[in-house]
Amino acid sequence: MSRSAHPAGPRHADVLPEGHYSAPPADLNTLDPKVWAQTVTRTPDGVVSVGGIDVKALAEEFGTPAYFVDEADFRARARAWRTAFGQDADVFYAGKAFLSRAVVRWLHEEGLNLDVCSGGELATALSAGMPADRIAFHGNNKSESEIRRAVEAGVGRIVLDSFQEIVRVAHIAQSLGTRQRVQIRVTVGVEAHTHEFIATAHEDQKFGIPLAGGQAAEAVRRALKLDGLELIGIHSHIGSQIFDTSGFEVAAHRVVGLLKQIRDEHGVELPEIDLGGGLGIAYTSDDDPREPHEIAKALTEIVNRECDTAKLRAPRISVEPGRAIVGPTAFTLYEVGTIKPLDGLRTYVSVDGGMSDNIRTALYDAEYSVALVSRTSDAEPMLARVVGKHCESGDIVVRDAFLPADLAPGDLIAVPATGAYCRSMASNYNHVLRPPVVAVNDGEARVIVRRETEEDLLRLDVG
Ligand code: LLP
Repeated sequence: MSRSAHPAGPRHADVLPEGHYSAPPADLNTLDPKVWAQTVTRTPDGVVSVGGIDVKALAEEFGTPAYFVDEADFRARARAWRTAFGQDADVFYAGKAFLSRAVVRWLHEEGLNLDVCSGGELATALSAGMPADRIAFHGNNKSESEIRRAVEAGVGRIVLDSFQEIVRVAHIAQSLGTRQRVQIRVTVGVEAHTHEFIATAHEDQKFGIPLAGGQAAEAVRRALKLDGLELIGIHSHIGSQIFDTSGFEVAAHRVVGLLKQIRDEHGVELPEIDLGGGLGIAYTSDDDPREPHEIAKALTEIVNRECDTAKLRAPRISVEPGRAIVGPTAFTLYEVGTIKPLDGLRTYVSVDGGMSDNIRTALYDAEYSVALVSRTSDAEPMLARVVGKHCESGDIVVRDAFLPADLAPGDLIAVPATGAYCRSMASNYNHVLRPPVVAVNDGEARVIVRRETEEDLLRLDVG
């Protein structure tokens, strides 16, 4: 295919339309280490590689679209969280970001615990050998059968999310002749600075029990009375993709306030608090995420200070990062299909996936970056919108980004930082098949979640 098969689209900064982008980068061939997994690099022949294997070889072997996870990077990030929080705290990886059996094994080996929020995630965790006592079970509407399975398996904690669930879990535990360790999830009334759909600590939403109006204190009163429950702590999760730690500090302050109230009212000092997940990552070069050790220091200091003031023994802290561990470790590799330059607007670049493998742009206006990875190019920057193959105009993967103007069908482009909430939120819209997840490490690549097939689709269709 000729590289000049399409007429020139808009290219220069002075003719660019409005959009969410900064000026074109000085060099489109440079990969910003902020947004790419640790072992990603451009080889001397210009092709990008991960874990020592170039993307042309990966595309040949595994096809496109596909997610490639840098296993060494995943393990390094998991370890960094573990080390930052030390022996007096627990790190629960939030499986909703991305979960597979290989991931469960990596987490287990790196000493992390696991947060699951459905029967399916629990089954994945148990089947890959995560010890049940290192699993926390979340969710605002767990079914009776999910609760029963979790209690029977012996999960380390169930995070109670409503008054009904307090009673439900207590009854199930009692009927199984056991006492279930539980935390109560509270909403602390913090406005986290993130997209409305992923903010969870303001009162007007479905998660948790509000501290305001004494509801959380009442939940504690009830839980303490029930024989089937062992109340070990209070849980707060304020939202997701957050850069500013002040929300966590307010949350810690309010949770410790509740611990003090519980001590004063019941004479009980709860031994644990969980401050949830939510730490942001860099999707583009404009994002500046905090490091795990900074977060650990800030959270530990605030909890210790608040406890000192309240004359409470400092509780054991746990956190639940999902995105911050897996997000930066993967990219999605696509093949360019059609290219449409629209005069005075931008050039639409269609790839062989789309909103079925990355719904985040359509759902949250998420911003991503993109690079040509199968070769370098000295062509000038062209303002592009990377779109998918779905029957929907909102099917956008990268809203505004610069790609070289000689981009052509058959080129490979990659979108970095797609490890979290992309494969885990993938769909079959338009009966498009969900891509595989391939782990790459030290010159070896292996499929950890295989590509969906048309047989898979037809097997479910039993009409
Ligand atoms: N703990 C709890 C109780 C949660 O609800 C969540 C995320 C986490 C931990 C992990 O949050 P993370 O560290 O990954 O931000 N689909 C959205 C994100 C939804 C987050 C739901 N809960 C997205 O793609 O941005």
